[in-house]
Amino acid sequence: MASSCPTCHAVTKDDNSKLCPNLVGVVGRKAGTTKSLLGPSENMKKYGVIWSTETLNEFLANPSAKVPGTAMAGILEDPQQRADVIAYLATLTN
Ligand code: HEC
Repeated sequence: MASSCPTCHAVTKDDNSKLCPNLVGVVGRKAGTTKSLLGPSENMKKYGVIWSTETLNEFLANPSAKVPGTAMAGILEDPQQRADVIAYLATLTN
């Protein structure tokens, strides 16, 4: 499932070909502040957390529980897989 993230999200800075927020620099950024064709939704802006290991862990376990109606489809139910993906996201720096 983790391999599906790049279907919707760019993981390099200059990739503008994806519809959803670019994930470069996501750790430390405020939710719903990155321009993209599909996002951010009003509820994501309202959620407004700073993305960290903790907030990403909560969000990725069940995105629509935190952000009602979100089009974010990348659910990671397995805690180990979440930890691995979050560790990867932390390497995507500007
Ligand atoms: C079907 C497309 C799709 C897939 C697949 C997908 N996402 Fe998303 N993601 C979105 C959309 C759309 C948003 C914006 C949601 C909103 O604003 O409500 C989003 C938002 C996010 C955000 C918040 C970004 C921000 O700056 O606020 C993170 C983090 C994220 N996704 C991580 C992931 C990860 C990790 C995966 C793989 C496990 C993944 N996504 C798979 C569509 C997708």
